[in-house]
Amino acid sequence: MSNPLSIHNPSDSDRDSNDNNPTAEQQKQMEAAYSQMKRRMAMEKLSSSIKHKIMVMSGKGGVGKSTVSTGLALSLAKDGNKVGIMDIDITGPNVPKMLGLENHRLHVDEGRIHPAVGPEGIKVISMAFLLEAEDTPVVWRGPIKLGAIQQFIGDVEWGNLDYLIIDFPPGTSDEPLTVAQSLQNIDGIVIVTTPQEIALLDSRKSINFAKSLKMNVLGIVENMSGYTVNGTVSDADGNMLKNTTLKVNGPGGKVHEVITDDNGNWGVSLDIFKIGGGKKASQDYSVPFLGKIPFDPGIVRSGDDGVHRIVSEPEGISAIAFDGVVKKLREILTSGDSDTELEII
Ligand SMILES: Nc1ncnc2c1ncn2[C@@H]1O[C@H](COP(=O)(O)OP(=O)(O)OP(=O)(O)O)[C@@H](O)[C@H]1O
Ligand SMILES: [Mg+2]
Repeated sequence: MSNPLSIHNPSDSDRDSNDNNPTAEQQKQMEAAYSQMKRRMAMEKLSSSIKHKIMVMSGKGGVGKSTVSTGLALSLAKDGNKVGIMDIDITGPNVPKMLGLENHRLHVDEGRIHPAVGPEGIKVISMAFLLEAEDTPVVWRGPIKLGAIQQFIGDVEWGNLDYLIIDFPPGTSDEPLTVAQSLQNIDGIVIVTTPQEIALLDSRKSINFAKSLKMNVLGIVENMSGYTVNGTVSDADGNMLKNTTLKVNGPGGKVHEVITDDNGNWGVSLDIFKIGGGKKASQDYSVPFLGKIPFDPGIVRSGDDGVHRIVSEPEGISAIAFDGVVKKLREILTSGDSDTELEII
């Protein structure tokens, strides 16, 4: 679309600014203001065309924000929702890799950016799409980085969505602040943490961030929570041992007693990284607990081969765990039962 502010001749740089024609510098400023206004209008439109906007954050790096963001997005999309995911991590954007969209390049049409389309029809926008090569570091700092984020919010053609999931780099720095100030009607934040008790401290930073911006904490997800081992036992003649008590040695010398089922199968969840940190954080800070995602080596593999665990094993333990978290999240969104009166802690 042509810019209505471009009708004057911009080459006339030394024209007297007191007459009715703008100088080149004024022209540039007007065009910048016009683009900014268009972007702001587009951002405002997003608040009505996207029903729910959810920010996924953590105090610490590597706890599984991107895994949880993509897992929530896929689980919601499997349920028939229109879902988008915005990867705001400029230095380490890895959502495209997790969704098999690594080599995608952005499609821009009439000044609007069109998202990539991933599994289950998820629309994906990532800073990774702007990189020349996977190993090219992005060195944007300060205002340029924040300008790029605003542009990503305002210039992307999302269409109508039921859910937009926003994945952040670790911490509570500029990126979440810029998004919180640019996007209206954000439902709130989902905090991802690991099971250790130290998780309490990490969650606290994200809760205080939400409080300072008067945002809701939708809940805490405890990721990498327990590792399930299972097997089948039979006697020397090959007969399955039904309803038999077995002892399984867990981490730290803890012995778990398990009983086999009618087919001789058994399973037990081992607390390889301790357990309960996320649950304790939610109790201590009075915010909802959304559930646990188990430690699943398949999640690591799927991150490498670009086929998400929920896609490769839709009935697997991770998919079931994500469905549980999504169910709880939707209950909270519909009841509005998140914590709006958080204390700074
Ligand atoms: N439940 C899980 N079971 C096994 N591995 C997991 C699980 N969740 C995440 N991982 C692995 O842990 C690593 C970090 O996960 P992820 O990239 O999602 O974390 P992040 O919090 O987004 O990291 P960053 O802070 O760098 O953005 C990845 O290799 C991922 O495959
Ligand atoms: Mg990440």
